[in-house]
Amino acid sequence: MELQLLKKVPIFTALKENQLTHIVKYCITKKYAKDQLILVEEEAGKTLFIIYKGRVKVTRTSDDGREVILSILESGDFFGEMSILDGKARSASVTALEDSELLLLRRGDFLQLLEDFPQIAIALLKELASRLRKSDSQIKSLSLQDALGRVSSTLILLAEEIGKMKDEAVLIPKIPLQQDLANMAGTSRETISRVFKSLEEDGYIVRQGRKLRIPNYEKFKMIFS
Ligand code: CMP
Repeated sequence: MELQLLKKVPIFTALKENQLTHIVKYCITKKYAKDQLILVEEEAGKTLFIIYKGRVKVTRTSDDGREVILSILESGDFFGEMSILDGKARSASVTALEDSELLLLRRGDFLQLLEDFPQIAIALLKELASRLRKSDSQIKSLSLQDALGRVSSTLILLAEEIGKMKDEAVLIPKIPLQQDLANMAGTSRETISRVFKSLEEDGYIVRQGRKLRIPNYEKFKMIFS
């Protein structure tokens, strides 16, 4: 089962079947319940995690105790690489958003794999570049934009991370709770609710329960990013 998953993990896609079989030997599987803390900010990091099933949120706690969501990761994504690479403490906390199953790789084994298979290192750098780009646009939206800009930038971030493209539209199957969205956008729950209502009235988004659809995603991005 791990082999099937590893084939889909972007940092491993360049590898051949026999190389993946080799990697599977180093992995162990672990289950986490919804809301369970997987790793904690400031702890020492000894493990790399790959999401087999489920979704997690990456968060930091602000000085006044508010939780800020940095990212939501899902099946095929990895986390925990930062402290493995630089040897420093965990940069953020990670919590399961739903019942999840993860593959764990020990620090020494992962570093060895990077040496043995340079394709993994290249794919890892590519993913880190993409995360840095997202962080750059988050910084831009938090520092420059008004409430509408912040909320729509958060929607674009979610669409890029967990959205499913269909023709011109993008569907975010399970949008985070309004308080979580507020923490991501650096605004209040009331503002999220007000901006969503106005975006909905103008036809930019369509909501149905926890599903959110952006009917014309390219146009949305052009207007709001
Ligand atoms: P590490 O610092 O070991 O532990 C926390 C993990 O959260 C970190 O590695 C990354 O894998 C992940 N992480 C931290 N910041 C971000 C971010 N901005 N976007 C996505 N993942 C992140």
